[in-house]
Amino acid sequence: MPVLVESDSAWATALVSGLPAGTQVVANAAQLDNWLMHQGEEYAVVVGPNIGLEEAISIASVLHRTRPTTDVVLLRHELSSDVFQQAMRAGIPAVVGAADIDGMSAAVVRARQTWEAIKGPDVQRGDKDGKVITVFSPKGGVGKTTVAVNLAIALGANGAARVCIVDLDLAFGDVAITLQLIPEHTVLEAVGTEEHLDFSLLETLLTRHETCSILAAPTHPEGKDRISPGLVRRVLQILRTQFDYVVVDAAPSFDDQVLHAFAETNECVLVATLDVPTVKNTKLAIETLDALDLVPGNRHLLLNRADDEVGLSPANVESLLKMPVAVALPSALAVANATNHGRPIVLSRPEHPVSRTFVQLAGMLSGARDGKSVSTAPNRPIEEPEQKRRFGRRRK
Ligand SMILES: Nc1ncnc2c1ncn2[C@@H]1O[C@H](COP(=O)(O)OP(=O)(O)OP(=O)(O)O)[C@@H](O)[C@H]1O
Ligand SMILES: [Mg+2]
Repeated sequence: MPVLVESDSAWATALVSGLPAGTQVVANAAQLDNWLMHQGEEYAVVVGPNIGLEEAISIASVLHRTRPTTDVVLLRHELSSDVFQQAMRAGIPAVVGAADIDGMSAAVVRARQTWEAIKGPDVQRGDKDGKVITVFSPKGGVGKTTVAVNLAIALGANGAARVCIVDLDLAFGDVAITLQLIPEHTVLEAVGTEEHLDFSLLETLLTRHETCSILAAPTHPEGKDRISPGLVRRVLQILRTQFDYVVVDAAPSFDDQVLHAFAETNECVLVATLDVPTVKNTKLAIETLDALDLVPGNRHLLLNRADDEVGLSPANVESLLKMPVAVALPSALAVANATNHGRPIVLSRPEHPVSRTFVQLAGMLSGARDGKSVSTAPNRPIEEPEQKRRFGRRRK
């Protein structure tokens, strides 16, 4: 996959629309270093037009020495002879005008072809064993999408990981709009492909954001019924081979699609608020997850709007649900404000206490990735009965 180095987020958003799904965006050479250190080989590094020429040339020179199979595509606002000369000396094979999205895409395709010619076709196979994190609540409006989107951005911050959000609120999904994106494709176009679906098809359906990729929900509610549970499972199985984290924004119900997503889930963030109906339904949801042996030991209770003074305290919720609050988020106008402006709070106000809490949550869940579960509930062995096996969690 390519990496885009661009410091201006508006430019990054525009450029990433012409790059393959899963393209990672980093802001500078230091973040690029960090990203490349944790990843396998990338076939192209696209250096955006707002990275200074000196920094761009330095990036290219280092890559030329350390990763000769990775091509650099240099984008410039002005294509002067000096730029071409310096690029040539640094071994940059492609210099493209900043606004020439087609030229950039073509250069990236050439880089991929060269890379495959050198490495062989097998390199296209995803080799990740990414983690599926499902954000769930049986109640609507409690903050699932807010949590899913901000968590995804926090997980991928500064090139730490490649992240994909799957909008599994198949009737009323709003992940794309939350990120101010209008998807050209949705999961609906994968209907009927269960048997032969692979990443090369799936990646054409992803919508790119500067921070992550998104598999958008159908644009109309009736599309939901055409998405089979088997397709949901297949999609998650494929995405986890390509992304470090797949964050699922689940619908507020235990429908078949959501249950099958749970069967692929490694970590579940249960979102609750301080109101009696939500707590009652969350308790029922936990009992259902228990009965089906889904994500035992990997459930994390997130109490949203935890400072609301409504007569029910976080301690009451913990004792009713018999699980600790792993993360508490306050009510903050800034959260809704950021969402309404299409720049989730983690992105628009990284210093805000709510953003810091999302970063902590991301840290906890990525720690859990390395076996340091933040849940106090122990893992239980897989149950054998038929009903339980049907949704049996994929164990890692
Ligand atoms: N901690 C918070 N402080 C202030 N506003 C919040 C907070 N969390 C969520 N909101 C706002 O509450 C509204 C509902 O949040 P969100 O859309 O994330 O909920 P949801 O559970 O995904 O809803 P649905 O079930 O309809 O998909 C949004 O306007 C969001 O900005
Ligand atoms: Mg939602």
